[in-house]
Amino acid sequence: MASAQDSRYGQKDTSDQNFDYMFKLLIIGNSSVGKTSFLFRYADDSFTSAFVSTVGIDFKVKTVFKNEKRIKLQIWDKSPQEGFRMIYITYHRGIIGFIFMFQVTSVLAYSTLLDWSTQIKTYSWDNAQVILVGNKCDMEDERVIFTERGKHLAEQLGFEFFETSAKDNINVKQTFEQLVDIICDKMSESLEMDPTIAVSKQNTWLKDTPPPQQPNCGC
Ligand code: GTP
Ligand code: MG
Repeated sequence: MASAQDSRYGQKDTSDQNFDYMFKLLIIGNSSVGKTSFLFRYADDSFTSAFVSTVGIDFKVKTVFKNEKRIKLQIWDKSPQEGFRMIYITYHRGIIGFIFMFQVTSVLAYSTLLDWSTQIKTYSWDNAQVILVGNKCDMEDERVIFTERGKHLAEQLGFEFFETSAKDNINVKQTFEQLVDIICDKMSESLEMDPTIAVSKQNTWLKDTPPPQQPNCGC
C-alpha cells in the first residue's frame, strides 16, 4: 500500500473515473534532487525550501487535456530507498513514463543512469518513455553539471533532456507535456490509442481545463 507518511501529500481523490486515458508515471533519482518538489510544483503549483525526505512511495493525480481527450496522470514519487523490485511487484506494472532526475549541483555518474535504465529493462518496462531531467537549474553558482553534459548523457541513453527548476517553475510543465506527447506518439504507433491524439503537432500542448462543451450536447 502506498504510504502517505510525507505529510505534504495529504488526502487525495483517486476515485475519479472520468478520463479517456490514464498514464502512470514515475519520478526517480537520488535523494534530495527535487523529485517531490518537482511533483508538487506541477500538481499544486507549490514549493517549499524545507527538505522532508520522502518515506516509501506516494503519488499525485493530475488531469490534463490533449486534443480534447482527458488524460489522467498518476504520478508516483519514490524514495530512493525503495527498490525497483518491490515497486514492480507491488505497484507499477503499468508504468508508461519515467522522469529520471538529477540535480545540476552534484556530480552524477553515468553508471547511475545506466543502472536505472537497466532496471527498467529488467522489469519489462521496455516500452516506457523516459525523460532525463537536470533539476535546480536556478542554482547557477553551484552548478557542476553543465547543460552540454546533460544533453550528452541523454543522447547516450536515447532520452529527451530538460533542465528544470521546481523552485523557479522552469520547464516543469514542459517536461510533463513532452513526456505525455512521446507516450501518445508511441501508443499511436502501436495502434493502442486513438491516433488523432498524437498526429497533430499543432495545438498539442496540454491544457489544464476541459474543452468547451459542444452546443446541443446531450451529456
Ligand atoms: P527524497 O525524498 O529524499 O528522495 O528527496 P527529493 O528528491 O524528493 O527532494 P525534495 O523535493 O524533497 O527537495 C530536496 C531539497 O531541494 C529541498 O530543500 C527543496 O526545497 C530543494 N529543491 C528542490 N527543487 C529545487 C529547485 O529546483 N531549486 C532549488 N534551489 N532547490 C530545490
Ligand atoms: Mg521526496
